[in-house]
Amino acid sequence: MGTARQIVVSVSGLTKAYGATSVLKGVDFSVDRGEVHALLGGNGAGKSTMIRIITGSAAKDAGDIVFHSPSGELRTEAEGRRKIAVVHQELALLPHLTVAENIALPYFANGAALFNRKRAAGQAYDALAMIDREFAATSLQRLIGDLSLHEGQMVEIARALASGAELILLDEPTANLTAQETDRLFTVLRRLTRESGLSVVFVSHRMKEIRQIANVCTIIRDGRTVVDRAATASLTDADIIEKMGQTATAHVSERAAVPTRRALDGEPLIIKENGFRLELRPGTILGVAGAPAGPSTLIATLVGAARSRRWTVSHASWPDSFSSPRQAARLGSGFITGDRSHKGILHSLPIIDNVLASRRVVRGSKVTGVHEQTECLDLMQALKVKAASIWNLPNTLSGGTQQKLLLARWLGLPSRLLVLEEPTRGVDIGTKREIYHLIRQMAASGTVIVWWSTENAELLEVCDRVMAFDTEGRCAGVIENEDLSEDRLAELTGMAA
Ligand SMILES: Nc1ncnc2c1ncn2[C@@H]1O[C@H](COP(=O)(O)OP(=O)(O)OP(=O)(O)O)[C@@H](O)[C@H]1O
Ligand SMILES: [Mg+2]
Repeated sequence: MGTARQIVVSVSGLTKAYGATSVLKGVDFSVDRGEVHALLGGNGAGKSTMIRIITGSAAKDAGDIVFHSPSGELRTEAEGRRKIAVVHQELALLPHLTVAENIALPYFANGAALFNRKRAAGQAYDALAMIDREFAATSLQRLIGDLSLHEGQMVEIARALASGAELILLDEPTANLTAQETDRLFTVLRRLTRESGLSVVFVSHRMKEIRQIANVCTIIRDGRTVVDRAATASLTDADIIEKMGQTATAHVSERAAVPTRRALDGEPLIIKENGFRLELRPGTILGVAGAPAGPSTLIATLVGAARSRRWTVSHASWPDSFSSPRQAARLGSGFITGDRSHKGILHSLPIIDNVLASRRVVRGSKVTGVHEQTECLDLMQALKVKAASIWNLPNTLSGGTQQKLLLARWLGLPSRLLVLEEPTRGVDIGTKREIYHLIRQMAASGTVIVWWSTENAELLEVCDRVMAFDTEGRCAGVIENEDLSEDRLAELTGMAA
């Protein structure tokens, strides 16, 4: 690399503590013009905290943050921050405004005199069309509150891409995207970095994506920088995992090691759509793949959230359809929502109530007894949740750690069916493998698992069979374990893997 570096932002000796918890203990991190820089680290390492400090939405305790202009001059923090766009780990859109208004608002907030509806719509269209033309054509006037999680994610990314920022910080932007959308996002990022010198900081726990998009990486661990600006290609997966402080065996696929399990005896669960019938014996792990439209209708029926005219679910001991999610839960149909922030986490209740929520519904109990505290701590230990106290609120935990609270709710609770929407969203690589193992154990005890994921590699690794949906929301087929491959899934879902 003969040429001098063109630094966009450089952070040095950054420290931050929340009360007695020291989160950042002297982090160094710098980003060059035109690069896609992966910021890596296990759950709770401090990635989101550092991003919030760089954008100014959290205060630092000590350390320096220096911004440079494209010509190399120093900028004030305020100037530097005006050139940053961020997609936070949890979506931050205004639900009562339209898609167009949400995308265009930052322009107007940055000094345009009056909100011009027509101009806003034009800007929003251009932004969305970069990643999805059809969505852009049909969604500008929809309210954010009516969008699915995954549509909201697209809007947020489009807003950042269109903001004219010189640096964009993407905190797990792909967690809600399908493989095809992720591909399109990456194409846009590559073009913008090459043509306009955009710099991107990319946080993800998906190794495959990191390799696809990031040329440089920085790894933080326990609040310190352990790898500073290494070429991604110079590190193996095992190196990265080891540097993050996770066991190196964690990345070895368990699939080969796990003997194909025989389905257990017992009444099957039967899923039907006109002309299509699937029998799920106790202990089956059924993957669900494809664009969200199809899977979400099926899942709503399975968990009693909505009745569908298309799908029926039957079991000898169940009514024709559930009257409510509560009834579904009591009859042994468990559910982990993919919308952690809006539907999963109970933000105003302490960690213990979040962990025990399902148990209380299933058992009909309300009081927090001493035995419950032990139960809560055991569940947290099984998932390696570190928290200063079980009485803290969930927003004191990192994103991936909050996800583990949702998993803890159903872990070890005897259920007939457990429906999982993207259960490892935001969970770090080491813990993912442990979760696969824990869910397999639940299957081995007789629970039918239905597992929807946008990460095809994950479905291959954990599922006995996978039901694939095409982009129109129709079931395109069911693939048995021995025939499973990323290519086959890509073919049936109509989406690149
Ligand atoms: N408001 C807060 N109060 C107390 N502690 C906090 C607060 N916000 C974050 N923390 C703590 O700071 C640490 C770092 O959290 P952070 O969200 O930055 O992690 P992360 O690297 O983004 O993890 P993940 O991969 O799970 O998103 C965690 O231990 C978390 O519990
Ligand atoms: Mg985070």
